[in-house]
Amino acid sequence: MTRTLRIGLLGCGVVGTGVLQLLRDHRERLTSRVDVALEVRRIGVRDIARPRDAIVPTKLLTDDLTSVVEADDVDVVVEVMGGLDVAGPLMRRALERGKHVVTANKALIAEYGSDLLEVAHAHGADLYFEAAVAGGIPILRVLRESLVSDRVTRLRGVVNGTSNYILSRMAQEGVDFEVALREAQAAGYAEADPALDINGGDAAHKLAILATLAFGARVTPANVYTEGIDTVAAEDIAFARNLGYAIKPLAVARETPSGQLDLRVHPALIPRDNALANIHDAINAVQIDAAALGSGLLSGPGAGQLPTAMSVLSDIVDVARNYAAGAHGRVPPRAVREVRLADIPVHDILELRARYYLRFSVADRPGVLGFLATVLGAHDVSIEQMFQEGRSDEMRWATVVILTHRARERDIRDAIAEIERDEYVYRPAHRILIEE
Ligand code: NDP
Ligand code: HSE
Repeated sequence: MTRTLRIGLLGCGVVGTGVLQLLRDHRERLTSRVDVALEVRRIGVRDIARPRDAIVPTKLLTDDLTSVVEADDVDVVVEVMGGLDVAGPLMRRALERGKHVVTANKALIAEYGSDLLEVAHAHGADLYFEAAVAGGIPILRVLRESLVSDRVTRLRGVVNGTSNYILSRMAQEGVDFEVALREAQAAGYAEADPALDINGGDAAHKLAILATLAFGARVTPANVYTEGIDTVAAEDIAFARNLGYAIKPLAVARETPSGQLDLRVHPALIPRDNALANIHDAINAVQIDAAALGSGLLSGPGAGQLPTAMSVLSDIVDVARNYAAGAHGRVPPRAVREVRLADIPVHDILELRARYYLRFSVADRPGVLGFLATVLGAHDVSIEQMFQEGRSDEMRWATVVILTHRARERDIRDAIAEIERDEYVYRPAHRILIEE
């Protein structure tokens, strides 16, 4: 007789409703593949009275979330509500009760993953989180299972759909930042607090999870140097395009030659002929460099209802398979047991060497280019290209764009600070790293 895995859903918004839809659409296929029936028993939400998709069985709704994690008729808790303060203790409680947990909550896993995974291990429960990183792309499975036999040296990618959507819309259609953000929210890509998408926080959560799996290292978001896309102006996108680059929200985790981890999230100029420059809208991509594999690229929808729900459901299937085999915890969710994670030193961002795009707004006066070149040179920053675009308004100011040769981040910052102190420099300078 087919056994049943009873599901308690925490959250029934974009992703939760997608999970219900896939459970309905793929019911027979799933049962035949898993040999375990998947059945939703309880659904916790904030507001029971809120209008919902017709697929949501309203009789299962409750605003008593504790009752979902405590219920004896729930075997696996599927947390798709988001946030830390409410979701965290609920997830912990579910694991302490020996219930398996599947979550799409990258913030929670990135910040408290070690603790939660130890609780899961202690109580013989599974805790999976494929949907937490890059939506529909099975990147965690690939790192955890396919590449377990290899040594990853670098991950580089676009892992936030909303910010990629915004920059793509600005670049392709000249859409305003705020309008593009509203479109991303309407499409269900953005976080409840979209500041996390824009300021790089969401990507930092994902990079921390990725780096932990890839390098077997204890990485938290605090280890990730993080810059948002909010400093990228339409004119930067246009200048970059003319120079042969696209601006993308980049995430990098890289082993340096000295054995440190270079961990960073920031907008970057990427040469047009690099695959990452051609990842648009809410599509995500991760380039993986590994010793035996060489280089590979995974790309696909990084946000949105069904791609994300598909990843959540694939984890539920893993739980169901383990449940059927009585084999919980066979594959550590982060590739190694938590106690075996290493403390690898993090590379200081100020010591990073890269090429840079710099944009200055300066008075259009004799000697201004010489001034910029002199200050940059004094800080050991060598100019590769430089051009000026004049403006004939009353103030007579001009935009100067400079591409540098490889320079140290610390020297770039010091040079910019000195340039900005000059009375003829009108606005904060803009600096964007060029990823080779
Ligand atoms: P939504 O805002 O669409 O849905 C959140 C759901 O959780 C709602 O049903 C809401 O209840 C419920 N909820 C939220 N907070 C509480 C609370 N304090 N108490 C009770 N119920 C609460 O979010 P999404 O579905 O978009 O995202 C869910 C999770 O999935 C987040 O962790 C997100 O980061 C992650 N994720 C989302 C992706 C996407 O593309 N949207 C992609 C990958 C991951 P109510 O319906 O009553 O308001
Ligand atoms: N807000 C997230 C994004 C959802 O835009 O990428 C997917 O994690």
